[in-house]
Parts: sequence; structure tokens; C-alpha cells
Amino acid sequence: MASTTSRLPPLARGVIQGFPASGKAALVRASRPICTSAGRFRGAQGLLPPPRHTPLIRCCPTPAAQYSPFTTSPRPPDAAGHESHHSKWRPPSDESLDQRPVLVVGAGNIGRRVALVWASNGRPVTIYDISPDALHSAVEYITDNLGSFCAQRGTHPGHVSTTADLRTATSTSGRPDRDSSGAVTAQEHTRAPWMAIECLPESLPLKTSVLALLERSLPADCILASNSSSLTAAEMAAEGPLAFPHRLLNTHYFIPPRNRMVELMSSGVTQAAIFPFLAGQMRRVGFVPVVVPRDIQSRGFVFNRIWAACKRETLAVLAEGVARPADVDALFRDFFHAEKGPCERMDEVGLDTVARVEQHDLERRPGLGSEPALAWLRTNYVERGKLGEKSGDGLFTADERDQLKEKHHLEKYKDVEETSGA
Ligand SMILES: NC(=O)c1ccc[n+]([C@@H]2O[C@H](COP(=O)([O-])OP(=O)(O)OC[C@H]3O[C@@H](n4cnc5c(N)ncnc54)[C@H](O)[C@@H]3O)[C@@H](O)[C@H]2O)c1
Repeated sequence: MASTTSRLPPLARGVIQGFPASGKAALVRASRPICTSAGRFRGAQGLLPPPRHTPLIRCCPTPAAQYSPFTTSPRPPDAAGHESHHSKWRPPSDESLDQRPVLVVGAGNIGRRVALVWASNGRPVTIYDISPDALHSAVEYITDNLGSFCAQRGTHPGHVSTTADLRTATSTSGRPDRDSSGAVTAQEHTRAPWMAIECLPESLPLKTSVLALLERSLPADCILASNSSSLTAAEMAAEGPLAFPHRLLNTHYFIPPRNRMVELMSSGVTQAAIFPFLAGQMRRVGFVPVVVPRDIQSRGFVFNRIWAACKRETLAVLAEGVARPADVDALFRDFFHAEKGPCERMDEVGLDTVARVEQHDLERRPGLGSEPALAWLRTNYVERGKLGEKSGDGLFTADERDQLKEKHHLEKYKDVEETSGA
């Protein structure tokens, strides 16, 4: 059986130890010793003192072709009722959090970054994606960055596993024991994820169908979190396939690891106890959670609403020829003592994404008056393939952006932000 690891080229700073022929999990090592579990590290000669900063990435076999998330039927509960979804959500014990991973679903731009921060405090993390290329790139990113990120924070890295097999992703052994009905056994459940964070493309049917699969596959005490930028958990709950939205909520990250804020928003029926528990866990690993009051359904995330207004007026100023991107950003940086201005930020996010979000906002709130600026952005940038960082040129040329980066002294997180796997 092929494994993700067997297809990986040698990593820039790592050593690959693979055992695909025997079907065992393969180990991708980022130089020196191996982290075998949170707080315990094993080198070639046996147990060693904990290394300063050595990430381990375990790539499980990836029989993606055998298991499509869209064709699998729900797994029945096991005899002991460990997969019952009817029981109320209860917080997992502190001890179990060292064993049970955070499951990140989607290894793309944001998923790998969310995974990095959760893994940076000795916490186990599993990354699931249907794309071997995305997993490969995420392995590179984490291998390159987890050690240096932990070094900056004075923490130890946890296990990171990657897999394209949803069954493997929903437990941690890599080869979950199952009973005769196909359900994972009670013992395996003690190692199943305590939280799943979806970082899937921005499509409501895709997100809800994968969340529904996760809901059926994961134990009743597993929190389901969506990282969508514009789709609310309430919309996901209303879409249909989720049977138990009381453990679903939005957790919106802002391109970690540099940004640590996370907004938490209810699905409307999210169980109240989840918020203090999850906010506490986030603080422990270095995130800064902000909880939108449970009884309020905002039409978007707090920061996104404010940022939307800032982007809209910036684009209007540029479209009218009132100022150039460099002038707008210089004014903004000086006044707010900010690292970057709105034009540089829009280049970072991607101008195609900026245009899509603005179109979405216009559809939800006709009368915003941003049609001319949106048309200007599409004609002069998006349709010419000038999308910002992802394509090279954008509101700033690639050269201008490089000069700006030097100027702003962004060196603090340079290793983490600018690697080949990012
Ligand atoms: N990029 C950002 O700056 C940012 C910031 C905050 C939130 N978000 C939100 O995060 C989500 C992901 O954004 P992104 O930029 O990382 O997207 P992306 O396209 O980079 O990554 C999405 C990943 O999901 C994988 N995927 C697709 N279908 C799948 C499936 N059925 N099962 C498992 N994996 C699957 C893809 O292979 C891909 O690797 C979006 O909802 C976006 O709104 C993005």
C-alpha cells in the first residue's frame, strides 16, 4: 500500500524514515531525536532528554481511493454506546488532552497554520486532507517551522500525523481496532480527537457534508469547529445534514501563527459549556480567543465586518485615483503603528478572494455602493492575473512588497512565515 511518505522527496531540513512496505506508520523526522509522545522523546539510542525543539510528523498510510468521504455510509454506534451522539457534550479530562489529538480537516493555507500552533505546546495533532499534494506541502511547512516556532515560544512540539484516510483521522492509532460492526472500539475512542477543525474550501454543501461525516465518526465529546470566513455555523446547522449542531461552532482564525486572535461564534444552539472550555484550551496553546455573545448571531465575524469597511473605502480611494497604494498604506501604518497597511494585507489575502468577498457582501447588503471600486479591482487586477502574493504582482509589485517587508522589520517571524511549504 502506498503511503504519503513514500511519495515525499527529501525534505530541506529533515530525514524521512519510512516503513511503507510493512504497512507501519512512517516517521518524518526534522533532524535530531524523535518525539514519541507529548513530553517524551526517543533518539536512535533510546530515551533522551527532551530536545529543545524537534517536531515529529507521522504520515499514516493513505488509502484515499478506498475511502471517499462522500460515499461512506454512517458508522453505527458500538455496543458500549461510545459513539452515541445523543448524550450531552462533556469536557474531556485534562489528562486525555495529552493523548487525544486535535484533528485539522484541510491541509491548505490556513489548516497547516492552525495545526502548527496547536502542535506547538506538546499537543498531538492529526491533519486530514483528500489531496496528497496538500498533505505533502503541509508536512514541508510544519517540518520547516514547528521547531523554530517552539524555540521562539520556549515550548515543545507535539506529534503531528497526516493522513488521507478519514477512518485513520478519526482515531489516533493509525490502525484503529474495530468491532464486528466496523465501529472503533472503546479503547480506540479514548484516543480519538477531542476537537475537529474544518479548514475546507469556502463551500457550504462541502463543509456540511464533511462535518456530517465527522459528526458520525467522532465520539460525542468531540467539538466540531468551522474556520469558515463567511459561512456561519448557524447557516451550516440550517443546511440540514448535521444531526447534532449543539457541538458545532465557528472558530475563526486570522492566519496564525503570526496572528493569535480567534473569534468564537455559536451556531445558535452550541452547548454553552463548550465556550469556556475551548477558550481555556486556546489560551493554553497561545491563542487569544474572543467570544461573540451566545445570544447574538452576527452577520459576520467582528473583525471581518470592520476590515470589510476598511477594504471597501481603500479600494474606492484607489479606484478614484485619490491616492496610490503606497500612500494609503503609509498613512495607515503611521496612524495605527501597524506592520502593514490595507493594500499590503489585501495582496496577502489574494485580490481574487477580496473581490469574491466584496461581491458576497454586496449580495447580502445591496446599497453598499461598492460596485465601481469592485469593477475597477476586477478589470485592473483580477482579470489580468495580478492577484497579490500568490501570483507575484498585485496592488504592489512583488519587488515593492519585498522592499516593504524589509522596511517593516518583519524578521521576527520570518522563518515561520516565509518557507517553501507555506
Ligand atoms: N486563507 C486565509 O487567510 C483564511 C483565514 C481564515 C479563514 N479561512 C477559511 O479557511 C477555510 C480554508 O481556507 P484555505 O485558504 O486554507 O483554503 P485552501 O484551498 O488553501 O485549503 C483547503 C484544503 O481543503 C482540502 N479539501 C478539499 N476538499 C476536501 C475534503 N472533502 N476532505 C478533506 N480535505 C479537503 C483541499 O485539498 C485543500 O488542501 C475557508 O473556509 C476560508 O474561508 C481562510
